[in-house]
Amino acid sequence: MERTLSIIKPDATRRNLTGKINAKFEHAGLRIVAQKRIQLTRAQAGAFYAVHEERPFYDELCEFMASEPVVVQVLEGDNAIARNREVMGATNPKDAEPGTVRAEFAESVGENSVHGSDSPETARAEIAFFFSGLELVG
Ligand code: CDP
Ligand code: MG
Repeated sequence: MERTLSIIKPDATRRNLTGKINAKFEHAGLRIVAQKRIQLTRAQAGAFYAVHEERPFYDELCEFMASEPVVVQVLEGDNAIARNREVMGATNPKDAEPGTVRAEFAESVGENSVHGSDSPETARAEIAFFFSGLELVG
């Protein structure tokens, strides 16, 4: 069993797509073992995406992530990190496989509906960024 951190981004919460996206996770065998709807401050978004600080899209990304509520969640399952990345699809929705979240719902490469951790190390750090042990009931 593995856990990964997922975020349903503002473009998707705004369009009321939380349930449709969660259905795709559950259909792929991922269990939502923790979930909350929050609105990030600009500083919190900046800290979460600090790894991208030097990238040209960083400021726009942080503004976007703080612009409206997000749903942060922990997904659990076999190979949850890779499986979630498959369900998400490629970063740019133009490159995303049909049936993936980003192919169906993303509006652009920036406003691409979901975030998912990309390695066991980032999953551990990103889960701890948003959830305490008490909030992870399994
Ligand atoms: O989210 P993912 O891991 O697929 O992509 P990333 O390379 O880690 O980039 C993080 C996020 O930055 C993306 O999901 C996009 O929202 C944004 N981004 C962007 O706005 N423009 C790019 N050229 C690349 C990423
Ligand atoms: Mg990434």
